[in-house]
Amino acid sequence: MGLINIAEAGVKLVMVGGKGGVGKTTCAASIALQLAMDGKRVLVISSDPTPSLSDIFEVPVGDKESRINDLYGLYGLEVSSEIVLKRWKERFGPEIYEVVSSFASVDYDFVDYIGSAPGIEEEYMLNFIMELVEGNTYDVVVWDTAPAGHTLRLLKLPELFLAHMEAATKFYMNIYSHFEKLRNTLTLKDSKRTLLEIIASWEALAERIVEFIRNRDAVKYLVVTIPEALGVRLTERMVKELEENSLTVENIIINNVIKDEDCEFHKMRKQMQGHYIQRIQAEYGDKNIVLLYLSPYEIKGLERISETAKKLFQ
Ligand SMILES: Nc1ncnc2c1ncn2[C@@H]1O[C@H](COP(=O)(O)OP(=O)(O)O)[C@@H](O)[C@H]1O
Ligand SMILES: [Mg+2]
Repeated sequence: MGLINIAEAGVKLVMVGGKGGVGKTTCAASIALQLAMDGKRVLVISSDPTPSLSDIFEVPVGDKESRINDLYGLYGLEVSSEIVLKRWKERFGPEIYEVVSSFASVDYDFVDYIGSAPGIEEEYMLNFIMELVEGNTYDVVVWDTAPAGHTLRLLKLPELFLAHMEAATKFYMNIYSHFEKLRNTLTLKDSKRTLLEIIASWEALAERIVEFIRNRDAVKYLVVTIPEALGVRLTERMVKELEENSLTVENIIINNVIKDEDCEFHKMRKQMQGHYIQRIQAEYGDKNIVLLYLSPYEIKGLERISETAKKLFQ
């Protein structure tokens, strides 16, 4: 039990996960604002297909990094799959095309074909986030992720990344029995690299992403949940899956907690919640668990967001 530890020095990325509707965006916005109020330059980025940063901050946030507030170094960005795929294509399209077209006569649409394979977008999302973090434009990036299942899949992907790209390319290459021989010697005309060099660079990138997301000092995983059966079950699943992939969840926020038993309704709800809160506390005694009370107000606008932030950090 304790306060969330994401304001520590050295933290570069805070990943906020959890099922839909539990308060991920509210928490991500609050954390980002608090860090910005502490004097850091912060980017809050949402990859949820139905983003809501604009609604919460009451300023337009879109697919270009934009400043959310004049007083603090707080910036926002909502990324769509189209943008992620577009960047992926810019980064890998020419290499893939070069590799494949050296063996088979394919046109550039082949790149679209690989790009449409399931998982590519998520794979590239991690690279996208890593570049933002390493770009040093921001001190901290707070990532408001898409609902649970999606994100879990995403974090398993770096290892699959290479397999994916290689399988698709090899599919064509294997038509040619000389492949293994050529692999080491054939130099591609545009980049002057050998096939092996290009594939090795994909491998190195996949490894770098894995290393990046497993860096416990720089990347903090925070799960938001609610004290109800489904919330707890999904949290257990999420924590387990993350930890099976060597990603440690250090922080759990239990949101929408009823504070006072001031009527029969609240008394009953509090009792119901109490059971699940205890279960989370018993199960995750080694983590920082913060209770966030259900607010009577809508959490919108800087004032309410900063009130929420105070509750998380103090
Ligand atoms: N502690 C709270 N008290 C009152 N309303 C809350 C609280 N946390 C979240 N909400 C509201 O619940 C809704 C869902 O929150 P949101 O952060 O958008 O969830 P998610 O991003 O997980 O889908 C929003 O309308 C938000 O204002
Ligand atoms: Mg959200």
